[in-house]
Amino acid sequence: MPVPLLDLRAQHATIRDEVVASMMDVVDSQLFILGAAVEKLEQHVAELSHTKFAVGCASGTDALLLALRAIDAGPGSEVVTSPFTFFATAGTIHNVGAKPVFVDIDPRTFNILPDAAGAARTSRTKAVVPVDLFGQMAAIEDVMKALPGVPLIEDAAQTIGARRSIDGVWRMAGEVAAIGTFSFFPSKNLGGYGDGGMMVTQDEALATRLKRLRMHGGAKQYFHDEVGYNSRLDALQAAVLSAKLPHLAQWSAKRRSNAKFYDAAFADLSDVTTPYVDPANESIYNQYTLRVDRRDDLQNHLKSRGIGSAIYYPLPLHLQPCFAYLGYKQGSCPEAERAAREVLSIPIYPELTEGQMTEVVDAVRSFYGR
Ligand SMILES: Cc1ncc(COP(=O)(O)O)c(C=O)c1O
Repeated sequence: MPVPLLDLRAQHATIRDEVVASMMDVVDSQLFILGAAVEKLEQHVAELSHTKFAVGCASGTDALLLALRAIDAGPGSEVVTSPFTFFATAGTIHNVGAKPVFVDIDPRTFNILPDAAGAARTSRTKAVVPVDLFGQMAAIEDVMKALPGVPLIEDAAQTIGARRSIDGVWRMAGEVAAIGTFSFFPSKNLGGYGDGGMMVTQDEALATRLKRLRMHGGAKQYFHDEVGYNSRLDALQAAVLSAKLPHLAQWSAKRRSNAKFYDAAFADLSDVTTPYVDPANESIYNQYTLRVDRRDDLQNHLKSRGIGSAIYYPLPLHLQPCFAYLGYKQGSCPEAERAAREVLSIPIYPELTEGQMTEVVDAVRSFYGR
C-alpha cells in the first residue's frame, strides 16, 4: 500500500461540507477583498496565539516581508537568521534590501543557536528572525536575551498553535515576538486551499503599520504615506481556514501521537535518530524529520516501496548560489551543512492509519536489515 508524504484529499474528505458552506457564504456575499471573513479569521488566530492583533496577508513569505518592512529593516541593515530553513526566511531579508547574517543551528532541534545569534550582532543589526522549524519553537527567550533591544520576528510558518514553556508559563508561537508570522500554504498544519499568511503582534502601532503595508501603504484609500504592497489574505482562503481552524488542535494532537508511534518503532535503530523535542516545547510536528545514515539510498528504497519522503532542506541558505555575494563558505555553518546531508522527513499527517505507519516503519527497518 503506497503511503504519500501528505494526503490532503484524505483531510478534505472529512471536512468537505463545512469548508464548502463557509466558502459559499463568501461567494453569496460577493465580498472577496478583506471584509468580515478575513476579520473573523484574524480574531480567531489572535486568540489562538494569545496576541492582541492579527493581520492577514497573501502568504507566509509576504508575512515576513511586511514584518521586516514594519520594523524598518532595509538597505544598510543586517538581519540575523538561520541558514537551515525554507528560502523565504532569507529571501525576504534580501528583498527588503537588508543583509542576511546566517548563524548555525542547534543540531538537536535544528533551530538557531542563541549564543551564535548574539555573537553575530553588529551596530547594523536591525532584527533577528529565528525560525520555529518542523513544528517546535526556537528558544526565542534565549535569543532575546542574547540580542537585547533587537526586534525579534518569529518565523512561525510551520508552527501555528505550538507552544513553549518560558519561565514556567506556556507561550504560544508568535506570542512573545515583536511580530510572529504564519503561513497557510496547503502543507502546513493549518493549510488553505491556496496561498495565505498572517502576522501577529501585541503592538498596536506595528499592527497599524502592517495593515497599511498590505494595502499599498495607504491608511486612507488613494492616499499613501509609504509604498506598500498588494498583499491581502483572500476572503475565500479565510473562509476555508475558519472552517479548518476548530480542527487544528485535534489534528496536531494526532500528529504528536503518530510521532510517538514512530519514536517507539525506531528506538532500537542505531542508524536512525528520531526528532528531538526540547522538553520546554510542545511540537505540532509539521514534519517528522529523521537524521539517518545513507540518506539518499534510504530515500530511494522508500520510493521503491511507494513511501513518500522529502529532504527539508538539501542546501543550507548560506551556500545558495544567490547568496554567494555574502561570502560564506563550506564549513561556515557546519551543523546546518550536516543536517542538510542527514535529514529525511517521513509521513506524519493526522489521517495516517496505523497500518500505513507500520508500512513506513517496515520499509525503513528493512533498509537497515532489521
Ligand atoms: C519556515 C518557512 N518560512 C516561510 C515560509 C513561506 O510561506 P509561504 O509558502 O506561505 O509563502 C514557509 C513555507 O512555505 C516556511 O516553511
